[in-house]
Amino acid sequence: MKIAIGSDHAGFPLKKEVMKYLREKDMKFEDFGTFSEDSCDYPDYALKVAEEVSNKNYDFGILICGTGIGISIAANKVPGVRAALCGDTFSAHASREHNNANILALGQRVTGSGLAVDIVDTFLSAEFQGGRHQRRIDKITEIEKKYSK
Ligand code: RB5
Repeated sequence: MKIAIGSDHAGFPLKKEVMKYLREKDMKFEDFGTFSEDSCDYPDYALKVAEEVSNKNYDFGILICGTGIGISIAANKVPGVRAALCGDTFSAHASREHNNANILALGQRVTGSGLAVDIVDTFLSAEFQGGRHQRRIDKITEIEKKYSK
């Protein structure tokens, strides 16, 4: 499993915690920035990670900003991306099981690092259930196609 990770300045400290956890678990990941707490714009990092996941260069993405809101909104503009902002472990496994989410978004200013790591672990361990959920995801893809030029 290959993971692409990214954050803005507000998510940078939590990203370091998450990367520490991924290293401990011996999981393959690449950090697409930002690389400091200097102010930057979250859509830039959302785009980098979302394109890598959409192009299937990475299986999953993890994106972190202050709230997780802006970075997930931006990532969800890239076709094929289903970014889920999760602040609890139930949402984390449901986002995989029902929504086949391929990017997990976290908010550093909202979710403590202990819970965030549990959310990451839950998200990466859960599996898509298919069946009726696939039909609904197909409908999301149809919406994407309707509005793509
Ligand atoms: C940056 O101050 C903050 O706005 C950003 O990290 C994020 O929370 C936006 O949704």
